[in-house]
Amino acid sequence: MGKIIVSGASGQFGHAAASQLLDMGRQVICLSRSPEKLSDLAARGAEVRYADFAEPDSLPAAMAGGEKLLLISTTMVGQRPRQHGNAITAAVAAGVNHIVYTSIMDGGNPDHPAVEQHDHYATEQLLKACGAAWTILYDAQYSEAVATAMAAPALAAGSKPDNCGDGLMPFVSRDDCVATAVGVLTQEGHANKAYNVTGPELLSVPQAMALVAEIAGKPITLIPVDDEGMYHYFDSLGVARKSADIGPDDAIPWASEGMVTFGQAIREGHFNLLSDDVERITGRTPRSLRSVLEQYQGGWQK
Ligand SMILES: NC(=O)c1ccc[n+]([C@@H]2O[C@H](COP(=O)([O-])OP(=O)(O)OC[C@H]3O[C@@H](n4cnc5c(N)ncnc54)[C@H](OP(=O)(O)O)[C@@H]3O)[C@@H](O)[C@H]2O)c1
Repeated sequence: MGKIIVSGASGQFGHAAASQLLDMGRQVICLSRSPEKLSDLAARGAEVRYADFAEPDSLPAAMAGGEKLLLISTTMVGQRPRQHGNAITAAVAAGVNHIVYTSIMDGGNPDHPAVEQHDHYATEQLLKACGAAWTILYDAQYSEAVATAMAAPALAAGSKPDNCGDGLMPFVSRDDCVATAVGVLTQEGHANKAYNVTGPELLSVPQAMALVAEIAGKPITLIPVDDEGMYHYFDSLGVARKSADIGPDDAIPWASEGMVTFGQAIREGHFNLLSDDVERITGRTPRSLRSVLEQYQGGWQK
């Protein structure tokens, strides 16, 4: 059994994946721009190495000796194809023979309206041409994102502007995304395949917010707006419109263009799909949105 490289190992996805692989007795190489944050994984036997996908020179040593790579998509929209390309090139040059990549649902569609998808599409093309085997995980929106970034401001304000209409999303727990990635990395038969990593049910954003309101015991009024109305809302919060406009010291490190076009994609049905891939790969039923919301409700202001 060869070594498995996990990128972004200080992040929520990467740390959980590395931890599960160590639990299974696998040899793990953990990459991070902040290796000092990974002392817990090092203490459990992981090799911890510095890697920044924006610095190609840091990558040959980081990738050396790995058999497989879990390539976790990075965070800066627009910069990701170059960063992911650097990682893929270095991994293949170092002899990595299988790369597992965290994309998002419908990420293989070149005409997708969500700007974040464009990065995933570009990365998918790089992966398919790189010479190593690949597996692409088309993750649905994380239930944890609903439980935190969406629920907290909506509960605080008692309302939420929304441009998703009745579009449906199979919200999935990040736990199930991680378990699926770990399954793909440790089982045979997943080379050159793509999977839809979805939760157990399709819900609209208004239905998800109604669930938050029910669990919190506090009403949330959904305010349907068009895309321009959604931009105005984010403008009022001081959010940059485009990723290229985000300054290095800006308090909010994401752009409204990503959120607004993501909402548009939900509204237009790009996520309207349920799959049994999680259950087939992990052997367990994926978690419901309700179970994730109940887990996080202690952190809500009610
Ligand atoms: N499906 C969804 O709903 C959804 C929601 C949010 C995010 N995502 C995507 O899923 C990914 C993982 O989610 P998460 O919750 O684990 O996010 P997270 O905790 O913010 O972690 C993001 C990871 O990106 C890595 N990264 C950023 N820039 C990098 C660079 N230049 N070189 C190497 N690594 C870099 C970071 O690694 P280090 O800091 O350790 O270097 C970090 O571990 C995100 O990055 C994002 O692309 C999906």
